[in-house]
Amino acid sequence: FSLKAYNTFGIEATARYFFEFTEFEDLPYFLANFQEWQKLPILLLGGGSNMLFVDDFDGVVIHSNIPGIKQVNEDRNHVWLEVGAGENWDRFVAYCVSEWHGGVENLSLIPGNVGAAPVQNIGAYGVEVCDYIESVKGFDLKTFEAYDIPAAECRFGYRDSVFKHELKNRFIVTSVVFRLDKFIEYKLDYGDLRAEVEKRGGENIHFVRDAVIAIRESKLPDPEVLGNAGSFFKNPIVESDFAEKLKKQFPQIPVYPAGEGKNKLAAGWLIDQCGLKGYRVGDAAVHEKQALVLVNHGAATGNEIYELAKHIQNSVHERFQVALEPEVNMIGI
Ligand code: EPU
Repeated sequence: FSLKAYNTFGIEATARYFFEFTEFEDLPYFLANFQEWQKLPILLLGGGSNMLFVDDFDGVVIHSNIPGIKQVNEDRNHVWLEVGAGENWDRFVAYCVSEWHGGVENLSLIPGNVGAAPVQNIGAYGVEVCDYIESVKGFDLKTFEAYDIPAAECRFGYRDSVFKHELKNRFIVTSVVFRLDKFIEYKLDYGDLRAEVEKRGGENIHFVRDAVIAIRESKLPDPEVLGNAGSFFKNPIVESDFAEKLKKQFPQIPVYPAGEGKNKLAAGWLIDQCGLKGYRVGDAAVHEKQALVLVNHGAATGNEIYELAKHIQNSVHERFQVALEPEVNMIGI
Protein backbone atom coordinates (compact mmCIF):
# COMPACT_ATOMS: atom_id res chain seq x y z
CA PHE A 1 0.00 0.00 0.00
CA SER A 2 1.55 3.32 -1.02
CA LEU A 3 1.91 5.91 1.74
CA LYS A 4 2.86 8.71 -0.61
CA ALA A 5 -0.47 10.49 -0.20
CA TYR A 6 -0.33 9.96 3.57
CA ASN A 7 2.86 11.87 4.37
CA THR A 8 3.30 15.57 3.71
CA PHE A 9 6.95 15.03 2.75
CA GLY A 10 5.54 13.23 -0.30
CA ILE A 11 7.96 10.34 0.18
CA GLU A 12 7.35 7.14 -1.76
CA ALA A 13 7.07 4.36 0.84
CA THR A 14 4.77 1.41 1.39
CA ALA A 15 3.01 -0.31 4.29
CA ARG A 16 2.26 -4.04 4.45
CA TYR A 17 -1.30 -3.27 5.61
CA PHE A 18 -3.25 -0.03 5.83
CA PHE A 19 -6.45 0.35 7.79
CA GLU A 20 -8.49 3.53 7.85
CA PHE A 21 -11.60 3.97 9.95
CA THR A 22 -14.14 6.79 9.97
CA GLU A 23 -16.41 5.52 12.74
CA PHE A 24 -15.36 4.39 16.17
CA GLU A 25 -17.33 1.14 15.84
CA ASP A 26 -15.22 0.05 12.85
CA LEU A 27 -12.08 -0.19 14.94
CA PRO A 28 -12.87 -3.06 17.35
CA TYR A 29 -14.52 -4.84 14.42
CA PHE A 30 -11.32 -4.60 12.39
CA LEU A 31 -9.16 -5.72 15.29
CA ALA A 32 -11.38 -8.72 16.01
CA ASN A 33 -11.42 -9.81 12.40
CA PHE A 34 -7.81 -9.25 11.53
CA GLN A 35 -5.80 -11.08 14.16
CA GLU A 36 -2.58 -10.72 12.21
CA TRP A 37 -2.12 -7.16 13.51
CA GLN A 38 -0.95 -8.56 16.85
CA LYS A 39 2.11 -10.13 15.24
CA LEU A 40 3.16 -7.05 13.36
CA PRO A 41 4.45 -3.61 14.25
CA ILE A 42 1.73 -0.96 14.43
CA LEU A 43 1.98 2.60 13.27
CA LEU A 44 -0.71 5.12 14.20
CA LEU A 45 -0.96 7.72 11.49
CA GLY A 46 -2.82 11.03 11.59
CA GLY A 47 -2.37 13.50 8.77
CA GLY A 48 1.21 12.33 8.20
CA SER A 49 2.46 15.87 8.66
CA ASN A 50 5.14 14.94 11.16
CA MET A 51 6.50 11.74 9.64
CA LEU A 52 9.52 10.76 7.63
CA PHE A 53 9.44 7.33 6.03
CA VAL A 54 13.12 6.43 5.80
CA ASP A 55 12.13 2.94 4.69
CA ASP A 56 9.00 0.95 3.88
CA PHE A 57 6.87 -0.03 6.86
CA ASP A 58 6.50 -3.77 7.25
CA GLY A 59 3.50 -3.64 9.51
CA VAL A 60 -0.02 -2.29 9.97
CA VAL A 61 -0.71 1.40 9.56
CA ILE A 62 -3.87 2.50 11.37
CA HIS A 63 -5.31 5.78 10.19
CA SER A 64 -7.87 7.27 12.54
CA ASN A 65 -10.11 9.39 10.35
CA ILE A 66 -13.26 10.13 12.32
CA PRO A 67 -14.83 13.45 11.26
CA GLY A 68 -17.03 15.90 13.15
CA ILE A 69 -17.09 18.94 15.41
CA LYS A 70 -19.78 19.07 18.10
CA GLN A 71 -20.36 21.26 21.11
CA VAL A 72 -20.57 19.09 24.22
CA ASN A 73 -20.78 21.69 27.00
CA GLU A 74 -20.92 25.40 27.73
CA ASP A 75 -20.77 27.79 30.68
CA ARG A 76 -20.39 31.56 31.14
CA ASN A 77 -16.74 31.57 30.11
CA HIS A 78 -16.11 28.52 27.98
CA VAL A 79 -17.40 26.20 25.32
CA TRP A 80 -16.33 22.60 25.03
CA LEU A 81 -16.06 21.05 21.58
CA GLU A 82 -15.46 17.40 20.82
CA VAL A 83 -13.64 17.05 17.53
CA GLY A 84 -13.01 13.85 15.56
CA ALA A 85 -9.36 12.84 15.15
CA GLY A 86 -9.72 12.93 11.38
CA GLU A 87 -10.83 16.56 11.13
CA ASN A 88 -8.29 18.72 9.38
CA TRP A 89 -6.60 20.87 12.05
CA ASP A 90 -6.87 24.17 10.21
CA ARG A 91 -10.51 23.60 9.31
CA PHE A 92 -11.18 23.24 13.03
CA VAL A 93 -9.27 26.47 13.77
CA ALA A 94 -11.22 28.27 11.02
CA TYR A 95 -14.47 27.02 12.61
CA CYS A 96 -13.42 28.31 16.07
CA VAL A 97 -12.50 31.68 14.58
CA SER A 98 -15.80 31.97 12.74
CA GLU A 99 -17.68 31.24 15.99
CA TRP A 100 -15.40 33.50 18.11
CA HIS A 101 -14.29 30.58 20.28
CA GLY A 102 -10.89 31.79 21.46
CA GLY A 103 -7.66 29.91 22.08
CA VAL A 104 -6.39 28.18 18.99
CA GLU A 105 -6.28 31.12 16.55
CA ASN A 106 -2.47 31.40 16.91
CA LEU A 107 -2.31 27.79 15.71
CA SER A 108 -3.80 28.65 12.31
CA LEU A 109 -2.53 26.85 9.21
CA ILE A 110 -0.62 24.11 11.04
CA PRO A 111 -0.84 21.08 8.74
CA GLY A 112 -2.21 17.76 9.96
CA ASN A 113 -5.27 16.36 11.70
CA VAL A 114 -6.86 17.04 15.06
CA GLY A 115 -5.91 13.58 16.38
CA ALA A 116 -2.21 14.37 16.05
CA ALA A 117 -2.41 17.73 17.82
CA PRO A 118 -2.19 16.33 21.37
CA VAL A 119 0.42 13.72 20.41
CA GLN A 120 3.11 16.27 19.71
CA ASN A 121 1.41 19.12 21.58
CA ILE A 122 1.50 21.39 18.55
CA GLY A 123 2.51 24.96 19.24
CA ALA A 124 3.19 28.23 17.48
CA TYR A 125 3.36 31.97 18.16
CA GLY A 126 3.32 31.64 21.93
CA VAL A 127 0.47 29.12 22.23
CA GLU A 128 0.53 25.38 22.85
CA VAL A 129 -2.54 23.30 22.15
CA CYS A 130 -2.38 21.65 25.60
CA ASP A 131 -3.68 24.88 27.15
CA TYR A 132 -7.00 24.33 25.36
CA ILE A 133 -7.38 20.56 25.66
CA GLU A 134 -9.82 19.19 28.22
CA SER A 135 -9.31 15.50 27.45
CA VAL A 136 -8.25 13.05 24.77
CA LYS A 137 -10.50 10.14 23.86
CA GLY A 138 -9.31 6.95 22.28
CA PHE A 139 -8.88 3.21 22.23
CA ASP A 140 -6.11 1.31 23.98
CA LEU A 141 -4.73 -1.55 21.88
CA LYS A 142 -3.25 -3.25 24.91
CA THR A 143 -6.25 -3.29 27.26
CA PHE A 144 -8.84 -3.19 24.47
CA GLU A 145 -10.72 -0.42 26.19
CA ALA A 146 -11.96 2.95 25.08
CA TYR A 147 -11.33 5.72 27.60
CA ASP A 148 -10.75 9.44 28.13
CA ILE A 149 -7.45 10.84 29.32
CA PRO A 150 -7.80 14.20 31.08
CA ALA A 151 -5.29 16.81 29.98
CA ALA A 152 -3.54 16.73 33.35
CA GLU A 153 -2.61 13.10 32.71
CA CYS A 154 -1.33 13.60 29.17
CA ARG A 155 2.05 14.83 30.48
CA PHE A 156 2.24 17.60 27.94
CA GLY A 157 5.60 19.24 27.41
CA TYR A 158 7.32 21.11 24.60
CA ARG A 159 6.39 19.05 21.50
CA ASP A 160 5.82 16.12 23.85
CA SER A 161 3.13 14.04 25.58
CA VAL A 162 2.43 10.59 27.01
CA PHE A 163 1.33 9.58 23.48
CA LYS A 164 4.97 9.75 22.38
CA HIS A 165 6.10 7.53 25.28
CA GLU A 166 4.12 4.87 27.21
CA LEU A 167 1.14 5.14 24.90
CA LYS A 168 3.10 5.32 21.65
CA ASN A 169 1.48 3.18 18.95
CA ARG A 170 -0.83 1.84 21.65
CA PHE A 171 -3.50 4.50 22.25
CA ILE A 172 -5.47 5.38 19.13
CA VAL A 173 -6.85 8.89 19.46
CA THR A 174 -10.45 8.97 18.24
CA SER A 175 -11.44 12.50 19.33
CA VAL A 176 -10.19 15.45 21.33
CA VAL A 177 -12.28 17.62 23.66
CA PHE A 178 -11.23 21.28 23.58
CA ARG A 179 -12.15 23.99 26.11
CA LEU A 180 -12.27 27.35 24.35
CA ASP A 181 -12.70 30.86 25.71
CA LYS A 182 -15.69 33.14 25.23
CA PHE A 183 -13.71 36.12 26.54
CA ILE A 184 -10.59 36.05 24.46
CA GLU A 185 -7.19 37.06 25.78
CA TYR A 186 -5.04 37.49 22.74
CA LYS A 187 -1.46 36.28 22.91
CA LEU A 188 0.50 38.52 20.59
CA ASP A 189 3.96 38.72 22.14
CA TYR A 190 5.75 36.35 19.79
CA GLY A 191 7.98 37.90 17.11
CA ASP A 192 6.18 40.22 14.71
CA LEU A 193 2.69 38.99 15.54
CA ARG A 194 1.47 42.10 17.38
CA ALA A 195 2.67 44.40 14.59
CA GLU A 196 0.95 42.22 11.98
CA VAL A 197 -2.30 42.27 13.99
CA GLU A 198 -2.14 46.05 14.54
CA LYS A 199 -1.61 46.53 10.82
CA ARG A 200 -4.94 44.79 10.21
CA GLY A 201 -6.88 46.90 12.73
CA GLY A 202 -5.99 45.55 16.19
CA GLU A 203 -7.17 42.78 18.51
CA ASN A 204 -9.82 40.69 16.80
CA ILE A 205 -9.85 36.92 16.38
CA HIS A 206 -10.07 37.18 12.57
CA PHE A 207 -7.10 39.55 12.38
CA VAL A 208 -5.02 37.24 14.55
CA ARG A 209 -5.76 34.31 12.28
CA ASP A 210 -5.02 36.38 9.17
CA ALA A 211 -1.74 37.66 10.67
CA VAL A 212 -0.56 34.17 11.66
CA ILE A 213 -1.40 32.87 8.20
CA ALA A 214 0.53 35.71 6.57
CA ILE A 215 3.61 35.13 8.76
CA ARG A 216 3.55 31.38 8.18
CA GLU A 217 3.06 31.76 4.43
CA SER A 218 6.04 34.10 4.24
CA LYS A 219 8.40 31.52 5.80
CA LEU A 220 6.95 28.04 5.74
CA PRO A 221 6.45 26.03 2.56
CA ASP A 222 2.96 24.75 1.73
CA PRO A 223 3.23 20.94 1.79
CA GLU A 224 0.83 20.78 -1.16
CA VAL A 225 3.43 22.61 -3.21
CA LEU A 226 6.72 21.54 -1.62
CA GLY A 227 6.90 18.37 0.50
CA ASN A 228 7.88 19.00 4.11
CA ALA A 229 6.96 18.16 7.71
CA GLY A 230 7.29 21.58 9.34
CA SER A 231 10.17 22.01 11.78
CA PHE A 232 12.40 19.00 11.37
CA PHE A 233 14.19 19.48 14.70
CA LYS A 234 13.08 20.66 18.12
CA ASN A 235 14.48 23.88 19.46
CA PRO A 236 17.17 22.61 21.83
CA ILE A 237 16.85 23.23 25.57
CA VAL A 238 20.21 23.78 27.26
CA GLU A 239 21.58 24.72 30.67
CA SER A 240 21.60 28.49 31.25
CA ASP A 241 25.36 28.48 31.97
CA PHE A 242 25.99 26.98 28.57
CA ALA A 243 23.59 29.44 26.89
CA GLU A 244 25.49 32.33 28.49
CA LYS A 245 28.77 30.98 27.20
CA LEU A 246 27.31 30.77 23.69
CA LYS A 247 25.95 34.31 24.00
CA LYS A 248 29.45 35.62 24.74
CA GLN A 249 30.86 33.83 21.75
CA PHE A 250 27.92 34.59 19.42
CA PRO A 251 26.27 37.83 20.64
CA GLN A 252 23.45 37.62 18.05
CA ILE A 253 22.24 34.17 19.14
CA PRO A 254 18.52 34.08 20.08
CA VAL A 255 18.12 32.69 23.62
CA TYR A 256 14.71 32.26 25.27
CA PRO A 257 13.85 31.38 28.89
CA ALA A 258 12.77 27.74 29.35
CA GLY A 259 12.16 27.28 33.06
CA GLU A 260 14.53 27.28 36.02
CA GLY A 261 18.18 27.15 34.96
CA LYS A 262 17.31 26.33 31.34
CA ASN A 263 17.16 28.17 28.04
CA LYS A 264 15.79 27.40 24.63
CA LEU A 265 17.86 28.07 21.52
CA ALA A 266 16.54 28.59 17.99
CA ALA A 267 17.53 25.53 15.95
CA GLY A 268 16.72 27.45 12.74
CA TRP A 269 19.25 30.13 13.66
CA LEU A 270 21.96 27.56 14.47
CA ILE A 271 21.45 25.79 11.13
CA ASP A 272 21.33 29.09 9.28
CA GLN A 273 24.64 30.16 10.88
CA CYS A 274 26.25 26.99 9.55
CA GLY A 275 25.50 28.35 6.09
CA LEU A 276 23.03 25.58 5.40
CA LYS A 277 19.90 27.56 4.52
CA GLY A 278 18.97 26.49 1.00
CA TYR A 279 21.59 23.70 1.05
CA ARG A 280 20.51 20.95 -1.32
CA VAL A 281 21.61 17.41 -2.10
CA GLY A 282 19.58 16.09 -5.03
CA ASP A 283 15.94 16.74 -4.17
CA ALA A 284 16.50 16.86 -0.40
CA ALA A 285 17.05 20.40 0.82
CA VAL A 286 17.02 22.90 3.64
CA HIS A 287 14.20 25.37 2.99
CA GLU A 288 15.41 28.72 1.67
CA LYS A 289 13.28 30.83 4.02
CA GLN A 290 13.36 28.76 7.23
CA ALA A 291 16.40 26.63 7.96
CA LEU A 292 14.51 24.47 10.46
CA VAL A 293 12.36 23.01 7.69
CA LEU A 294 13.64 20.29 5.38
CA VAL A 295 11.93 19.96 2.01
CA ASN A 296 11.49 17.42 -0.77
CA HIS A 297 11.88 19.10 -4.17
CA GLY A 298 10.13 16.18 -5.82
CA ALA A 299 11.90 12.87 -5.91
CA ALA A 300 13.88 12.79 -2.64
CA THR A 301 13.88 9.46 -0.83
CA GLY A 302 13.35 9.21 2.91
CA ASN A 303 16.94 8.14 3.23
CA GLU A 304 18.21 11.22 1.41
CA ILE A 305 16.30 13.48 3.81
CA TYR A 306 17.64 11.43 6.71
CA GLU A 307 21.24 11.79 5.46
CA LEU A 308 20.72 15.53 5.09
CA ALA A 309 19.38 15.69 8.66
CA LYS A 310 22.48 13.88 9.94
CA HIS A 311 24.71 16.30 8.06
CA ILE A 312 22.88 19.22 9.71
CA GLN A 313 23.19 17.67 13.16
CA ASN A 314 26.92 17.15 12.66
CA SER A 315 27.49 20.68 11.38
CA VAL A 316 25.56 22.28 14.25
CA HIS A 317 27.33 20.11 16.78
CA GLU A 318 30.73 20.91 15.39
CA ARG A 319 30.14 24.65 15.45
CA PHE A 320 28.04 25.12 18.61
CA GLN A 321 28.40 21.84 20.58
CA VAL A 322 24.62 21.62 20.55
CA ALA A 323 22.80 18.36 19.80
CA LEU A 324 19.70 18.78 17.62
CA GLU A 325 16.93 16.30 18.28
CA PRO A 326 14.49 15.50 15.46
CA GLU A 327 10.93 16.66 15.93
CA VAL A 328 9.54 14.50 13.15
CA ASN A 329 8.87 10.83 13.67
CA MET A 330 11.31 8.79 11.64
CA ILE A 331 10.04 5.42 10.53
CA GLY A 332 12.43 2.69 9.47
CA ILE A 333 15.65 3.56 11.30
N1 EPU B 1 15.95 31.97 12.47
C1 EPU B 1 17.03 32.25 11.66
N2 EPU B 1 17.15 31.59 10.48
C2 EPU B 1 16.27 30.66 10.08
C3 EPU B 1 15.16 30.36 10.89
C4 EPU B 1 15.02 31.03 12.10
O1 EPU B 1 17.86 33.09 12.01
O2 EPU B 1 16.45 30.11 8.99
C5 EPU B 1 15.78 32.71 13.73
C6 EPU B 1 14.63 33.72 13.62
O3 EPU B 1 15.05 34.93 13.10
C7 EPU B 1 14.18 33.84 15.05
C8 EPU B 1 14.42 32.45 15.62
O4 EPU B 1 15.37 31.84 14.76
O5 EPU B 1 15.00 34.73 15.76
C9 EPU B 1 13.14 31.63 15.72
O6 EPU B 1 12.56 31.48 14.42
P1 EPU B 1 10.97 31.36 14.18
O7 EPU B 1 10.25 32.44 14.88
O8 EPU B 1 10.76 31.22 12.71
O9 EPU B 1 10.53 30.06 14.92
P2 EPU B 1 11.26 28.64 15.16
O10 EPU B 1 11.77 28.64 16.57
O11 EPU B 1 12.24 28.36 14.09
C10 EPU B 1 9.14 27.51 16.17
C11 EPU B 1 8.35 26.26 15.97
C12 EPU B 1 7.46 26.39 14.73
C13 EPU B 1 6.52 27.55 14.94
C14 EPU B 1 7.35 28.82 15.19
C15 EPU B 1 6.49 30.00 15.56
C16 EPU B 1 9.64 24.41 16.88
C17 EPU B 1 10.48 23.23 16.60
N3 EPU B 1 9.23 25.10 15.82
O12 EPU B 1 10.02 27.66 15.07
O13 EPU B 1 6.70 25.21 14.62
O14 EPU B 1 5.66 27.75 13.83
O15 EPU B 1 8.25 28.61 16.31
O16 EPU B 1 5.98 29.80 16.85
O17 EPU B 1 9.37 24.71 18.04
C18 EPU B 1 6.63 23.02 13.64
O18 EPU B 1 6.72 22.58 14.78
O19 EPU B 1 6.52 22.26 12.65
C19 EPU B 1 6.67 24.46 13.44
C20 EPU B 1 6.68 25.01 12.24
